Amino acid sequence: MKKIVITGGAGFIGSHVVRRFVNNYPDYDIYNLDALTYAGNLENIKDIEDKPNYKFIKADITDAAAISALFKEHAFDGVIHLAAESHVDRSITDPLAFVRTNVEGTLNLLNAFKELWAGNFNGKRFYHVSTDEVYGTLGAEGLFTEETPYAPNSPYSASKAASDHFVRAYGETYGLPYVLTNCSNNYGPNHFPEKLIPLFINNIINNKSLPVYGDGNYTRDWLFVIDHAVAIDKVFHEGKNHQTYNIGGFNEWKNIDLVRLLCKVMDAKLGRAEGESEKLITYVKDRPGHDLRYAIDASKINKELNWEPSVTFEEGLNFTVDWFLNNQEWLKNVTSGAYMKYYDNQYTNRV
Ligand code: NAD
Ligand code: TYD
Repeated sequence: MKKIVITGGAGFIGSHVVRRFVNNYPDYDIYNLDALTYAGNLENIKDIEDKPNYKFIKADITDAAAISALFKEHAFDGVIHLAAESHVDRSITDPLAFVRTNVEGTLNLLNAFKELWAGNFNGKRFYHVSTDEVYGTLGAEGLFTEETPYAPNSPYSASKAASDHFVRAYGETYGLPYVLTNCSNNYGPNHFPEKLIPLFINNIINNKSLPVYGDGNYTRDWLFVIDHAVAIDKVFHEGKNHQTYNIGGFNEWKNIDLVRLLCKVMDAKLGRAEGESEKLITYVKDRPGHDLRYAIDASKINKELNWEPSVTFEEGLNFTVDWFLNNQEWLKNVTSGAYMKYYDNQYTNRV
């Protein structure tokens, strides 16, 4: 396996995957294919951009002809597909954008890969990175396993579910050698500040209100992004074809408890009196179709590939808060311009 294209490598998770592959596999040629949407930022990977085994390709996965031509030109042996529209709130406002990138974009990659290697898939691999949100919501009990039926509730999760189904169908119909992972909520450096943790870190720094949706009793299973990148590396190299692996943090938090912990950690780091940042918490109108609880049973990847998270939540959160405090220029750059318009539309009149 020599030439690997990683899609969405300028985004949050993709940048950590690109960095890991470029640094750990000097004998691979790593191509980072990204359209640089609002969520893509080459700053995220500037530390590796001069490495001889790294190339950036600016391309849009919704452009079938361009994607097909790029696959013919470079003959990629492996694909690690992360490019996506990834924010649930945006999917509620503009579902079609999610169909175009997450469904059509994935199909364009599948078709380009199939055209290139059909008849001889030997040693080739298509890795589709997906989310636990495809399984819908849990009640108070239970965990998502690889056998949990799909029941997506948001346009985002519906588009990811559709893409997962197409990947699986290409495996069954055309023998395309795929692996698929469904991961829980990630957090860490370079997380775009529209998602809960980085948004609230940014608001605490700037003394802005912390908009908790509904009663705040929604539960997510949080995983440090670098642990996700390690899992992707393992599944890419050691996972079995036509298999799904769930990836999770064994780390459930109710939103409101997480927000209180974050306030406490940040008060200490910012030299504020304990309880100061909690005063910023504001309960706002709930998200429509809001999934109550996500929690992953990651025992398959643990047993078969010997993967487990390497850091505790306290360690990961400390590291993350420090990263954001030390990279406020990055935060300022990504929260200027179009971000402010998004923020006003999303939160004005929501209280
Ligand atoms: P992100 O929004 O931070 O980054 C997405 C990247 O894809 C950006 O660099 C963007 O420029 C690029 N992109 C978007 N549309 C594109 C297009 N049409 N063509 C080419 N590039 C395009 O996303 P993320 O949070 O890093 O998520 C990456 C993947 O992991 C997604 O597939 C997402 O569904 C999945 N995932 C995310 C999480 C999470 O907690 N963030 C959890 C599980 C799975
Ligand atoms: P988010 O980071 O958008 O991830 P996802 O919806 O994919 O799980 O949201 C995490 C949780 O935090 C989710 O229950 C929604 C909630 N949330 C808020 O309460 N306020 C906010 O401003 C945001 C962005 C999210």
